[in-house]
Amino acid sequence: TPIRAGSYTEELVQTAKSIASPGRGILAIDESNATCGKRLASIGLDNTEVNRQAYRQLLLTTPGLGEYISGSILFEETLYQSTTDGKRFVDCLKEENIMPGIKVDKGLVPLPGSNNESWCQGLDGLASRSAEYYKQGARFAKWRTVVSIPCGLSALAIKEAAWGLARYAAISQDNGLVPIVEPEILLDGDHPIERTLDVAERVWAEVFYYLAQNNVVFEGILLKPSMVTPGAEHKNKASPETIAEFTLKMLKRRVPLSVPGIMFLSGGQSEVEATLNLNAMNQSPNPWHVSFSYARALQNSVLKTWQGRPENVEASQKALLVRAKANSQAQLGRYTG
Ligand code: 13P
Repeated sequence: TPIRAGSYTEELVQTAKSIASPGRGILAIDESNATCGKRLASIGLDNTEVNRQAYRQLLLTTPGLGEYISGSILFEETLYQSTTDGKRFVDCLKEENIMPGIKVDKGLVPLPGSNNESWCQGLDGLASRSAEYYKQGARFAKWRTVVSIPCGLSALAIKEAAWGLARYAAISQDNGLVPIVEPEILLDGDHPIERTLDVAERVWAEVFYYLAQNNVVFEGILLKPSMVTPGAEHKNKASPETIAEFTLKMLKRRVPLSVPGIMFLSGGQSEVEATLNLNAMNQSPNPWHVSFSYARALQNSVLKTWQGRPENVEASQKALLVRAKANSQAQLGRYTG
C-alpha cells in the first residue's frame, strides 16, 4: 500500500496506470499563449484566440487518436475551450479514452545568486487552481522546470528545481492530479554524453530526495525526463542505441521501481529521431512503461500540413496519426520506419 493515505491515493494510482498503458503515450499541446504564438507564426498565422482554438480543435478531434494517445496536456485556455460546435475539448478527449492534463507552472524567471540560471514559478495558489482544474476534468498535471548545462549548473539551481517539483507534486496529489515531474535538462551545449549523464544523475537524485521528503506517493507520479544525449553542438552525434544505453543507465541508477511511467520529452529532436530513440529504449524489457510525452516531435509535420487552411484539416489529422502510431510502435519496441 502507498505510503500516504490521502483521499485521492487509489484514484491517482489508477490514473497513472491508465496513462502508462501499453502502446500509448502523451500528446503535449500545453504551449503557453506566447509559445503557441511562435508555432502559429511559423506558418504565417496571427496569435489570436480564434487561431489557437482552431489549431487545438484540429488536434483534439482527430478520429482514432485514443488508440495511440493516453493523455493530453493542455494549457489553461484550452482546458476551458470547446469545439466550434460547442463540445467541450475535455469531452472530446474522454470519448477517446484520453486523460485531460493541465500545465500548472507559471514559467521560468531568473534565479538570483546563480550562474544566470532560472527557477520555475507557480506554487502560490496552486492548491486552489488544482482543485478547479480537477472540477473541469483534468486528472493529471505538468510542471516544467529547466536546468542548463552550458550555464555552469549550480548546486543552487538543482536544489531549487528539485524542491519546486516536489512541492508541486505533493500539492497536485492532494487535489487528485497525477503530477508529471519534469526537470528538463536542455540539449544546448557542446558537452559529451557522459557529462549529460552525470548532470542527469545529480538532478534526479535530488528530485527523488525531495519527493520522498514531501511524502509524495511514487505510484501516483509520472516522470518527464530529457533523454541522455550529447549537447546539441557536440562534434559527434550519438546513435539511438547509445542514447538508449545512457538513458536507461541513468533511469536504472536513479528511478525507483514504484514509479509507473517514464514519458520522455522530445526537447528539439526531430520527429523521426525522437521515435527512433524511444524505440531503441524499448528493445529490451525494462521495469517501467517507457514512453513519450512529445510536443514538437508530434506536431511539426501537423503544423506544416495545416497552414491554417480548413481544407487541410483532414490531412493534418492524418499526419498526427502517422507520428502517434510510430511512437506507439516505438513504445512497444516495434517501430520499423
Ligand atoms: P517537447 O517535446 O517539444 O520538448 O515539449 C516538451 C514539453 O514539456 C511539452 O509539454
